[in-house]
Amino acid sequence: MTSPSLADTHLWPITATPHPSPTTPERRAEILANPGFGQHYTDHMVRATWTADEGWHGAELVPYQPLTFDPATNFLHYGQAIFEGMKAYRHADGSIWLYRPLKNATRFNNSARRLAMAEVPEELFIGSIAALVSADRDWVPSGGETSLYLRPFMLGTEVGLGVRPSNTYTYLLIASPAGAYFSKGIHPVTVWLSDDYVRAAPGGTGEAKCAGNYAASLIAQAEAAQHGCDQVVWLDAAEHRWIEEMGGMNLYFVYGTGDQARLMTPSLTGALLPGVTRDSLLTVAQDLGIKAEEGRISVEEWKAGCASGEITEVFACGTAAVVTPVGEVKSRMGNWTVGNGGAGEVTMRLRQALLDIQTGAVPDRHAWMHKIIDA
Ligand SMILES: Cc1ncc(COP(=O)(O)O)c(C=O)c1O
Repeated sequence: MTSPSLADTHLWPITATPHPSPTTPERRAEILANPGFGQHYTDHMVRATWTADEGWHGAELVPYQPLTFDPATNFLHYGQAIFEGMKAYRHADGSIWLYRPLKNATRFNNSARRLAMAEVPEELFIGSIAALVSADRDWVPSGGETSLYLRPFMLGTEVGLGVRPSNTYTYLLIASPAGAYFSKGIHPVTVWLSDDYVRAAPGGTGEAKCAGNYAASLIAQAEAAQHGCDQVVWLDAAEHRWIEEMGGMNLYFVYGTGDQARLMTPSLTGALLPGVTRDSLLTVAQDLGIKAEEGRISVEEWKAGCASGEITEVFACGTAAVVTPVGEVKSRMGNWTVGNGGAGEVTMRLRQALLDIQTGAVPDRHAWMHKIIDA
């Protein structure tokens, strides 16, 4: 299945108030030379309001600026707050492209429904991105694995301390230039299998991209760091046995090598975030002739598979880092190394194949790329 074309999407009208004193070209060049991740913001943002009477209205592009809220605003207390994360890429000819943006639009509204929030029309979601990237096109870096990270989010803004769905919402979009995730070469991560904490339970909010999920993950991430690990891996809530995902990324397990290599990623049980990268890699693997399927794996199977050599590589995947090898595992059941602890061959092939599509280095066979700014 390919995404419908953006050309089919009628874009929501968005009024524009340009920044009176935007960042100078010199300062912007300085930032784009080494943007890091999530540290600098472009000159504009988009905002829109939903009320029960008027629905969505007042969509406007305005200078990037602080927000002001009454202290009794709903989301500050009860957490009606959701977000998305996606990237715009500048291709070699200067044109700017989005990667599978309708998947993010759909996931945003799935999150909205789970948190009893208003849904955002696709035309507004995509229209806001087109307006912001157009206004701040000079902020899209070029070359290597750089991109403009886009952060759409929505807040329940009714004022009042009653616990109920807000009757007003604010949708916002900001953007931040992003450098290569691994600027000093690919670095396999060491993971801690969290036994004390769970991320999500059946019927919970695991498959929604809501702020509270990330707040609840921080203590486990801190525990991982105390054990000398880069990231936490989440286990299922009922048995603390089945592998779910890693921090803000989904996981893939590689069995066998060479022509015999096959991939498995944990099934979407409702407790995992359905990653766009995870979904893409199921198809990219097929393109490369590698069998890929959804399934399940326990902690014992992961440990035994690495000991026997049946599991040769493990990697995590997500928008920010694309694909990250997992080199070492630490847990209360012991510590073990995946393969030789380095970046595996299958992992790196998949990473390059997906990056080549996103950066326009190879033809996009699946209609995943959507041009928003011409060369
Ligand atoms: C908890 C979690 N899992 C997985 C992912 C990967 O999703 P995607 O590939 O859409 O970035 C993310 C990032 O959005 C995440 O926050």
